Amino acid sequence: MSKNAILIYSSIDGQTFKISEYLSEKCKTSISFELKPIHDVKNMRLNEYEIIIIGASIRYGKHSSEITKLVKNNLEVFNNKKTAFFSVNAVARKPGKDLSTNNPYVIKFLNKTKWKPDITAVFAGKIDYPKYKFFEKIIIRFIMLITKGPTDTSKSYEFTNWLKVDEFAAELNKKF
Ligand SMILES: Cc1cc2nc3c(=O)[nH]c(=O)nc-3n(C[C@H](O)[C@H](O)[C@H](O)COP(=O)(O)O)c2cc1C
Repeated sequence: MSKNAILIYSSIDGQTFKISEYLSEKCKTSISFELKPIHDVKNMRLNEYEIIIIGASIRYGKHSSEITKLVKNNLEVFNNKKTAFFSVNAVARKPGKDLSTNNPYVIKFLNKTKWKPDITAVFAGKIDYPKYKFFEKIIIRFIMLITKGPTDTSKSYEFTNWLKVDEFAAELNKKF
Protein backbone atom coordinates (compact mmCIF):
# COMPACT_ATOMS: atom_id res chain seq x y z
CA MET A 1 0.00 0.00 0.00
CA SER A 2 1.31 3.47 -0.77
CA LYS A 3 2.10 5.81 2.10
CA ASN A 4 0.30 9.10 2.46
CA ALA A 5 2.28 12.30 2.24
CA ILE A 6 1.59 15.98 2.10
CA LEU A 7 3.91 18.14 0.08
CA ILE A 8 3.47 21.77 1.06
CA TYR A 9 5.04 24.19 -1.38
CA SER A 10 5.71 27.87 -1.59
CA SER A 11 6.26 28.93 -5.18
CA ILE A 12 5.80 32.37 -6.67
CA ASP A 13 6.90 31.87 -10.27
CA GLY A 14 6.13 28.16 -10.51
CA GLN A 15 9.51 26.39 -10.45
CA THR A 16 9.10 24.92 -6.95
CA PHE A 17 5.64 23.78 -7.96
CA LYS A 18 7.04 22.18 -11.12
CA ILE A 19 9.61 20.28 -9.01
CA SER A 20 6.86 19.27 -6.56
CA GLU A 21 4.70 17.84 -9.35
CA TYR A 22 7.69 16.02 -10.78
CA LEU A 23 8.47 14.45 -7.39
CA SER A 24 4.87 13.41 -6.93
CA GLU A 25 4.94 11.66 -10.32
CA LYS A 26 8.33 10.04 -9.66
CA CYS A 27 7.31 8.61 -6.27
CA LYS A 28 3.73 7.67 -7.09
CA THR A 29 4.16 3.89 -6.87
CA SER A 30 5.20 4.01 -3.20
CA ILE A 31 4.05 7.41 -1.90
CA SER A 32 0.75 9.10 -2.54
CA PHE A 33 1.31 12.88 -2.48
CA GLU A 34 -1.17 15.57 -1.70
CA LEU A 35 0.20 18.81 -3.13
CA LYS A 36 -0.82 21.92 -1.20
CA PRO A 37 0.24 25.53 -1.63
CA ILE A 38 1.25 27.06 1.69
CA HIS A 39 -1.66 29.52 1.64
CA ASP A 40 -4.11 26.57 1.73
CA VAL A 41 -2.53 24.92 4.74
CA LYS A 42 -4.00 26.95 7.60
CA ASN A 43 -5.62 24.77 10.29
CA MET A 44 -4.78 21.52 8.57
CA ARG A 45 -4.26 18.38 10.61
CA LEU A 46 -0.71 17.57 9.68
CA ASN A 47 -0.72 14.67 12.11
CA GLU A 48 -2.87 12.69 9.71
CA TYR A 49 0.00 12.32 7.27
CA GLU A 50 2.79 9.77 7.57
CA ILE A 51 5.17 11.94 5.61
CA ILE A 52 5.49 15.73 5.44
CA ILE A 53 7.55 17.39 2.74
CA ILE A 54 8.16 21.09 2.33
CA GLY A 55 9.42 22.73 -0.85
CA ALA A 56 10.12 26.45 -0.74
CA SER A 57 11.77 28.98 -2.99
CA ILE A 58 13.91 31.93 -2.02
CA ARG A 59 12.96 35.51 -2.70
CA TYR A 60 15.17 38.37 -1.56
CA GLY A 61 17.19 36.09 0.69
CA LYS A 62 14.33 34.35 2.45
CA HIS A 63 11.94 31.43 2.32
CA SER A 64 8.32 32.48 2.72
CA SER A 65 7.58 33.62 6.28
CA GLU A 66 4.45 31.44 6.20
CA ILE A 67 6.63 28.37 5.69
CA THR A 68 8.89 29.37 8.58
CA LYS A 69 5.85 29.94 10.78
CA LEU A 70 4.29 26.62 9.85
CA VAL A 71 7.43 24.72 10.77
CA LYS A 72 8.01 26.63 14.01
CA ASN A 73 4.37 26.24 15.11
CA ASN A 74 4.35 22.50 14.38
CA LEU A 75 7.88 21.62 15.35
CA GLU A 76 6.79 18.67 17.54
CA VAL A 77 4.87 17.15 14.65
CA PHE A 78 7.65 17.85 12.17
CA ASN A 79 10.37 16.33 14.32
CA ASN A 80 8.30 13.19 14.99
CA LYS A 81 7.27 12.36 11.43
CA LYS A 82 9.11 11.30 8.36
CA THR A 83 9.97 14.66 6.88
CA ALA A 84 11.89 16.15 3.98
CA PHE A 85 12.75 19.67 2.91
CA PHE A 86 13.96 21.16 -0.34
CA SER A 87 14.83 24.73 -1.12
CA VAL A 88 14.86 26.28 -4.59
CA ASN A 89 17.08 29.28 -5.26
CA ALA A 90 19.38 30.85 -7.82
CA VAL A 91 22.50 30.69 -5.65
CA ALA A 92 22.34 26.88 -5.77
CA ARG A 93 23.44 26.99 -9.42
CA LYS A 94 26.95 27.72 -8.09
CA PRO A 95 29.32 24.89 -7.16
CA GLY A 96 30.03 25.17 -3.44
CA LYS A 97 26.47 26.37 -2.74
CA ASP A 98 24.65 23.52 -4.41
CA LEU A 99 24.31 21.15 -1.46
CA SER A 100 21.98 21.34 1.50
CA THR A 101 25.10 21.33 3.70
CA ASN A 102 26.68 24.38 2.05
CA ASN A 103 23.76 26.41 0.74
CA PRO A 104 23.45 29.45 3.03
CA TYR A 105 19.64 29.67 2.81
CA VAL A 106 19.14 26.03 3.82
CA ILE A 107 21.62 26.28 6.69
CA LYS A 108 19.96 29.45 7.98
CA PHE A 109 16.42 28.08 7.65
CA LEU A 110 17.17 24.85 9.52
CA ASN A 111 19.03 26.70 12.26
CA LYS A 112 16.21 29.18 12.66
CA THR A 113 13.37 26.65 12.76
CA LYS A 114 15.25 23.89 14.65
CA TRP A 115 13.63 21.39 12.30
CA LYS A 116 15.65 18.28 11.54
CA PRO A 117 14.27 16.81 8.31
CA ASP A 118 15.26 13.22 7.49
CA ILE A 119 16.14 14.30 3.95
CA THR A 120 17.20 17.75 2.81
CA ALA A 121 18.02 19.02 -0.65
CA VAL A 122 18.60 22.22 -2.56
CA PHE A 123 17.88 22.76 -6.24
CA ALA A 124 18.85 25.59 -8.52
CA GLY A 125 15.75 27.41 -9.75
CA LYS A 126 14.84 29.32 -12.86
CA ILE A 127 15.54 32.87 -13.89
CA ASP A 128 12.50 33.80 -15.92
CA TYR A 129 13.07 37.43 -17.01
CA PRO A 130 10.00 37.72 -19.30
CA LYS A 131 7.77 36.85 -16.31
CA TYR A 132 9.21 39.50 -13.98
CA LYS A 133 7.78 42.93 -13.27
CA PHE A 134 9.80 45.94 -14.37
CA PHE A 135 11.74 46.50 -11.12
CA GLU A 136 12.21 42.79 -10.43
CA LYS A 137 13.80 42.46 -13.86
CA ILE A 138 16.25 45.26 -13.10
CA ILE A 139 17.13 43.87 -9.66
CA ILE A 140 17.54 40.28 -10.82
CA ARG A 141 19.60 41.40 -13.81
CA PHE A 142 21.87 43.35 -11.48
CA ILE A 143 22.26 40.35 -9.14
CA MET A 144 23.03 38.13 -12.14
CA LEU A 145 25.57 40.64 -13.40
CA ILE A 146 27.51 40.65 -10.13
CA THR A 147 27.26 36.87 -9.71
CA LYS A 148 28.26 36.14 -13.33
CA GLY A 149 24.85 34.84 -14.32
CA PRO A 150 22.86 35.42 -17.54
CA THR A 151 21.72 38.99 -18.23
CA ASP A 152 19.67 38.77 -21.44
CA THR A 153 16.25 39.82 -20.14
CA SER A 154 14.44 38.51 -23.20
CA LYS A 155 15.16 34.92 -22.13
CA SER A 156 14.41 32.33 -19.41
CA TYR A 157 17.12 30.19 -17.87
CA GLU A 158 16.28 26.95 -16.10
CA PHE A 159 19.16 25.93 -13.84
CA THR A 160 17.37 23.02 -12.18
CA ASN A 161 19.40 19.84 -12.46
CA TRP A 162 16.66 17.25 -12.89
CA LEU A 163 19.07 14.40 -12.18
CA LYS A 164 19.46 15.83 -8.68
CA VAL A 165 15.67 15.91 -8.35
CA ASP A 166 15.66 12.24 -9.44
CA GLU A 167 18.17 11.44 -6.71
CA PHE A 168 16.00 13.18 -4.12
CA ALA A 169 12.96 11.21 -5.34
CA ALA A 170 14.95 7.98 -5.10
CA GLU A 171 15.93 8.85 -1.53
CA LEU A 172 12.29 9.56 -0.62
CA ASN A 173 11.29 6.19 -2.08
CA LYS A 174 14.07 4.38 -0.27
CA LYS A 175 13.92 5.98 3.19
CA PHE A 176 10.18 6.52 3.49
C1 LIG B 1 12.17 38.92 -7.05
C2 LIG B 1 13.08 37.75 -6.93
C3 LIG B 1 14.01 37.68 -5.90
C4 LIG B 1 14.87 36.59 -5.79
N1 LIG B 1 15.79 36.56 -4.77
C5 LIG B 1 16.68 35.54 -4.72
C6 LIG B 1 17.69 35.52 -3.71
O1 LIG B 1 17.78 36.39 -2.85
N2 LIG B 1 18.57 34.49 -3.72
C7 LIG B 1 18.54 33.48 -4.66
O2 LIG B 1 19.38 32.60 -4.61
N3 LIG B 1 17.57 33.46 -5.60
C8 LIG B 1 16.66 34.46 -5.66
N4 LIG B 1 15.70 34.48 -6.63
C9 LIG B 1 15.65 33.34 -7.57
C10 LIG B 1 14.50 32.38 -7.23
O3 LIG B 1 14.76 31.69 -6.03
C11 LIG B 1 14.33 31.39 -8.38
O4 LIG B 1 13.90 32.11 -9.50
C12 LIG B 1 13.33 30.27 -8.09
O5 LIG B 1 13.29 29.40 -9.21
C13 LIG B 1 11.95 30.81 -7.80
O6 LIG B 1 11.11 29.74 -7.44
P1 LIG B 1 9.55 29.80 -7.71
O7 LIG B 1 9.37 29.86 -9.22
O8 LIG B 1 9.03 28.52 -7.16
O9 LIG B 1 9.01 31.01 -7.03
C14 LIG B 1 14.82 35.54 -6.75
C15 LIG B 1 13.88 35.62 -7.79
C16 LIG B 1 13.03 36.70 -7.90
C17 LIG B 1 12.05 36.77 -9.02
